[in-house]
Amino acid sequence: MSSQAVDLSVSIGKLKLKNPVIPAAGTFGYGEEFANFVDINELGAVIVKGTGLYPRLGSFEHRFLEIPGGSLCTIGLQGVGVEVFIKEKLPYLRRFSTPVIVNIVGDDIDEFAQVAEILSRAEGVAGLEVNISCPNVEKGGMHFGVDPEATFEVVRAIRNNTDLTVIPKLTPNVTDITIFAKVCEEAGADAISLINGLVGMAIDINTRRSKLGKNLTGGVTGPCIKPIALRMVWQVVHTVSIPVIGIGGITGAEDALEFLVAGATAIEIGTYNLIEPKVTIKTVQGIKQYLIDRGINSVNEIIGSMVLS
Ligand SMILES: Cc1cc2nc3c(=O)[nH]c(=O)nc-3n(C[C@H](O)[C@H](O)[C@H](O)COP(=O)(O)O)c2cc1C
Repeated sequence: MSSQAVDLSVSIGKLKLKNPVIPAAGTFGYGEEFANFVDINELGAVIVKGTGLYPRLGSFEHRFLEIPGGSLCTIGLQGVGVEVFIKEKLPYLRRFSTPVIVNIVGDDIDEFAQVAEILSRAEGVAGLEVNISCPNVEKGGMHFGVDPEATFEVVRAIRNNTDLTVIPKLTPNVTDITIFAKVCEEAGADAISLINGLVGMAIDINTRRSKLGKNLTGGVTGPCIKPIALRMVWQVVHTVSIPVIGIGGITGAEDALEFLVAGATAIEIGTYNLIEPKVTIKTVQGIKQYLIDRGINSVNEIIGSMVLS
């Protein structure tokens, strides 16, 4: 089979992705930061940093810690705010044929709804990933994502304010993630992405203080969370009928394919962008090669193909 014959395209709501590989929010800046490493036209979509109604400075210092198999970090939704994003960051992304998904944040439902409305009017935004899962902020973020009623309310408010593809991003810091996935579907979500970081801690035994300073806790991300993320994605795929985007510890094509086989329609790569900035492109190539080697015409034949017996 010639490489041209392989179809990597997938659909997420109204979005047509050239391939299922997307950089995860907060680990790819606003795209331009990776210009020396990645041709954005080669990605399935781009997801930019969490964006709220106003600029946010983020957490206190001591934000990022390398741990065995990943990272423990608390960025705290630092971001430029929606007006600056539209004026200064979006024009760069408009040059590419790749759909732009904005990861949106809010202190309350009203902020989420307003940001959704503003972005719906901006030329060049294709979708909204709704961050109701940030483990590192007091207000907003995970505060919504651990309460099914609040999850429903925020997704419904956004749905009522936009025709863009709406993708709530779930937190793993709950007992039964399927409840939250179902609630998002009922509220009108077009797809679901999961997972964000797991709340974690590290202590310096000499000072007996948190290694993340005054922040105390942070989100555990990277390869060490992959088995948990994969299990949750698999559970959610079997709960909802909308597409699921798998996130958590992906370092290349082999990891990505595990999520696709489990039933994810697309995947996001986060922490590994900070280790290998070309990981997204290498993952696209690796998925393509896997299909070519096995004579499979379309990535859609792999999605949800897990053998259970
Ligand atoms: C430095 C950093 C910044 C992040 N910023 C955001 C963000 O702005 N919005 C969001 O929803 N998730 C954010 N995340 C979470 C990632 O998008 C992703 O869900 C998580 O890291 C798990 O994927 P990974 O194991 O591939 O890193 C961030 C993660 C890291 C490491």
